[in-house]
Amino acid sequence: MDKLNIVGGTPLNGTIYISGAKNAVLPIMCAALLTDKEVVLRNVPKLLDVRSLISLLEHLGATCEFRAGLLRIKTTAIKATTAPYELVRKMRASVLVMGPLVARAGVAHVSMPGGCAIGTRPIDIHLDGLKAMGAEVTLDEGYVTVKAPSGLSGCEYTLPFPSVGGTENLLMAAVFAKGQVVLKNVAHEPEIVNLAEMLNAMGAKIVGAGTDTITIRGVSNLGGCTHSILPDRIETGTYAVAALMTNGKLTLRNTSLSLIQGLTQPLKKAGAIMEEHNGGFSIWRDGPIQPVDVVTEPYPGLATDLQAQFMALMTLAAGTSIIRESIYENRYMHVPELVRMGANIKVQGETAVVRGVPALKGAPVMATDLRASVSLVLAGLAAEGTTTVNRVYHLDRGYEHIEDKLNRCGAHVSRSNGSD
Ligand code: EPZ
Repeated sequence: MDKLNIVGGTPLNGTIYISGAKNAVLPIMCAALLTDKEVVLRNVPKLLDVRSLISLLEHLGATCEFRAGLLRIKTTAIKATTAPYELVRKMRASVLVMGPLVARAGVAHVSMPGGCAIGTRPIDIHLDGLKAMGAEVTLDEGYVTVKAPSGLSGCEYTLPFPSVGGTENLLMAAVFAKGQVVLKNVAHEPEIVNLAEMLNAMGAKIVGAGTDTITIRGVSNLGGCTHSILPDRIETGTYAVAALMTNGKLTLRNTSLSLIQGLTQPLKKAGAIMEEHNGGFSIWRDGPIQPVDVVTEPYPGLATDLQAQFMALMTLAAGTSIIRESIYENRYMHVPELVRMGANIKVQGETAVVRGVPALKGAPVMATDLRASVSLVLAGLAAEGTTTVNRVYHLDRGYEHIEDKLNRCGAHVSRSNGSD
């Protein structure tokens, strides 16, 4: 398996172009199953997860053509309605084909995703919402089957938790419902808005995306569209932290500060200076990193997907900070690896106490999940000496051309074939 070798200690200076959002393009690709017309997606990042989802969509009957950031998807007819275990196991977002398959084909047979490194990650909210719309849901041998042969019906359903995937699956399932579907306590993430914009461009009738309540009036079918994927706010936040950890100055383009609103306050308290300009912003610091207490929350709070990166920053703060992970039950896999690099972190349940140290030391470390692995890259960029991050396929799932983007700003990152 590939590994990244990082020689730390160089301040990052220069410009990084942010790619399209992984967590927007995945549900949007699934939404393309809802029409037999061509969907053209722009600003699509070249990620392992995009490749994996293309294979699943092709298995289901879509033809896909992906070149230079442009992805064309056309599903003239649904040829299969099963999302097999070997695909879902590798990428949980495969579960997002469920809503479109039930809406278009009246049935979906999807492997239960199973847990992953950061938690059990059930899909009970997805299934309860589909039942509220009249679907019949059964679970057998690790597969969930959702049936609605005569279509889904209007209803009002309140999500017990603003689940991002739950909101997306139910939104896509509802587009052909008979009558009106009202979804309450939904997720507000910008990726939900990007998905709703695309569905409305295809002819859906959706209002309220980005607020607590989304209302969908069912239509009989959807056309094609051309749609741009919004910038990746998690990638944006990741490189913003990289500038501060290496005491450099980065200009991030094709993004905006408004996309990382849950992170900007903590960054300012940590000593960041951020200067907005059209198409992005610059970020640097002119003093030590200050300790900041944070808790992860649904949007617009601090994104759980930025917790590991922010923790890496706090390992070098001039004091102690308290970090609370409220979304997942096990999203501290990066802690023992950061400790190997000299960080001083104690975890108690969902709370981590981070005592800042003057410097981190390079070491061989292991990536476990996407965001944990990028926090190790950040630590390696700031550390004295060389850090080797093993199992970087985790990174390739969510960060397009990461070593190129970093090396163009003065980093020393190289990739080699690992033994393990
Ligand atoms: C999306 O996952 C993202 N993935 C995750 O990003 C992100 O961490 C998460 O939203 C929260 O922001 C994609 O968009 C592809 P959830 P999702 O449903 O939809 C519980 C990354 O690193 N829950 O909002 O799976 C669940 O266990 C990935 O890019 C239920 O209990 O997240 C978790 O504790 C990691 N029942 C919490 O809600 C359900 O039916 C948040 O899950 C669904 C979720």
